[in-house]
Amino acid sequence: MTTHTMTEVQGLEAEHVLQVYKRANVVFERGEGVRLFDSNGRAYLDFISGVGVCSLGHGHAKLAAAIADQAKTLLHTSNLFYHPLQGELATRLAALTGLDRAFFCNSGAEAIEACLKFSRRFWQGARTKYVAFNHSFHGRTMGALSVTWDSHYRGPFMPLIPNVVFVDANDPAALAAAVDDTTAAIIVEPIQGEGGVRNISAAMVAAINAACAKTGALLIADEIQCGSGRTGTFTYSATLGLKPDLMALAKAMGAGVPIGAAMFSNRVAAAATPGDHGSTYGGNLLACRASLVFLDELGVAGSGGVLDNVRRVSAHFDTRLAALKAKHACIVDLRGAGVIRGIDIGEDAGWVVPAALERGLLINRTSTSVIRLLPPFVITEQHIDEAVNILDAVLQEKN
Ligand SMILES: Cc1ncc(COP(=O)(O)O)c(C=O)c1O
Repeated sequence: MTTHTMTEVQGLEAEHVLQVYKRANVVFERGEGVRLFDSNGRAYLDFISGVGVCSLGHGHAKLAAAIADQAKTLLHTSNLFYHPLQGELATRLAALTGLDRAFFCNSGAEAIEACLKFSRRFWQGARTKYVAFNHSFHGRTMGALSVTWDSHYRGPFMPLIPNVVFVDANDPAALAAAVDDTTAAIIVEPIQGEGGVRNISAAMVAAINAACAKTGALLIADEIQCGSGRTGTFTYSATLGLKPDLMALAKAMGAGVPIGAAMFSNRVAAAATPGDHGSTYGGNLLACRASLVFLDELGVAGSGGVLDNVRRVSAHFDTRLAALKAKHACIVDLRGAGVIRGIDIGEDAGWVVPAALERGLLINRTSTSVIRLLPPFVITEQHIDEAVNILDAVLQEKN
């Protein structure tokens, strides 16, 4: 493989790539398990996994073999024809989510778009309002952006779709007041990801369920970041006791191959007719094959698969992060579950990211003050020790 210098790569991108990303000064060329290797051969411990995507780590032998095999067999036919893998994947996702039908797409934002569209389709124009939460992030397309809270993302693209109300996630009474018989759907991340790894309270879960029961509003669960097994259950909605009618999945479910899915109850899906929605690539053979490998590897609770690994290492994460917090007064809060974790340092945490990179640890920062950890599902206790020791050293050095 040709190696590339930082200067070459930056030079080419600066000329012809749309400048919407602030990239770190590193060029990755190869990955192996939980490690990435840069163009100088230096190894890094990957605790961000391509923003929650590389669930099985890097260079996964079974995934690589399946992708190669699929590439030799058939990659794509479009949704004009049948192929054997969509129905198989949909059946497995239905069993795992408790929602009956899948629409396949290529990203999280597209899964959200499908949920927004079909929650309106269900109401046949009678209801158009969405209720979303402060600190929510649902994606960058116009519909997904409309239910995304942060004005930094929304501002430059106004006007967005109308009739969206945002509610404080710590205020169940405000939710009860906002949801009425004009509300098509409430949209919620069971753990808010980009918005600062924020868990929702049991009181808010009860308020959401009560508001849906009282008004008939549908519930859309955005499980794109916290779902697909990241917390030790396939969906975090199930852990919390949320009862979604629609659900968005993406990221980890493709283990690095782009795929998303909107899941619908039969009641909501019944409103869909041929031609209502579509995607050229959605659910092609390559993406479905990769996702089936992911599900095989994930397994179910007690099967000895990757899901059990998430459950096991999660307890170690709890212990090590609690000890880190006890040692560093700057840590004001620990949030998340399983292998989605937020460390809130109560002040701009931007400096932590390059300091950790310098020491060979990849993490990122969200919501200004939160260090976010989204490692692959295959991490071990030793990886957690290594990552927490690096964070310890980084925080120690500053204070
Ligand atoms: C909760 C949530 N919803 C939606 C999205 C959008 O997904 P994508 O970037 O694949 O469009 C993201 C991406 O970070 C997300 O975390």
